[in-house]
Amino acid sequence: MRVLVTGGAGFIGSHVVAALRERGHEPLVFDVREDPGADVRDPAAVGRALSGVDAVCHQAAMVGLGDGVADAAEYVSRNDLGTAVLLAAMAEAGVGTLPRTSGSAPAGGIPVRAWLTAQALLALLLNHLLLTGW
Ligand SMILES: NC(=O)c1ccc[n+]([C@@H]2O[C@H](COP(=O)([O-])OP(=O)(O)OC[C@H]3O[C@@H](n4cnc5c(N)ncnc54)[C@H](O)[C@@H]3O)[C@@H](O)[C@H]2O)c1
Repeated sequence: MRVLVTGGAGFIGSHVVAALRERGHEPLVFDVREDPGADVRDPAAVGRALSGVDAVCHQAAMVGLGDGVADAAEYVSRNDLGTAVLLAAMAEAGVGTLPRTSGSAPAGGIPVRAWLTAQALLALLLNHLLLTGW
């Protein structure tokens, strides 16, 4: 399978890339660390990257603790907006396989539409909390 690995230059993503290669798949890294133009918040760049792709493993994220509440917008932008842009582009491109990964729950696969709904609700909640001062 041809798998787009967002955040593929990061800690988790680079292991995913190596594991995919070991198993004979074709990972494609999509990560701003390797290419400033490979930003999951950029619909055009994501759309181009999805061409010919069978599945996406989404590991692009801003992780860890920031310096303070001033970092909140950048976290929401990279993590929530980035995920929403990616999912919308996947729906547009007809790419429907998105393995779910998590540090606290068993990995599995969920339908893109269900995750899109969950992410949209989360983004709305976070936007509301930010706009209303938490
Ligand atoms: N590292 C862990 O132990 C751990 C544990 C549980 C869950 N996770 C989850 O795994 C995911 C990846 O974490 P990680 O530890 O590999 O982080 P990381 O910081 O090592 O890697 C994240 C990668 O995403 C890239 N990135 C950030 N914003 C981007 C954007 N807008 N467009 C494209 N690429 C972007 C970064 O350049 C980086 O290479 C996160 O969702 C994290 O919550 C990590």
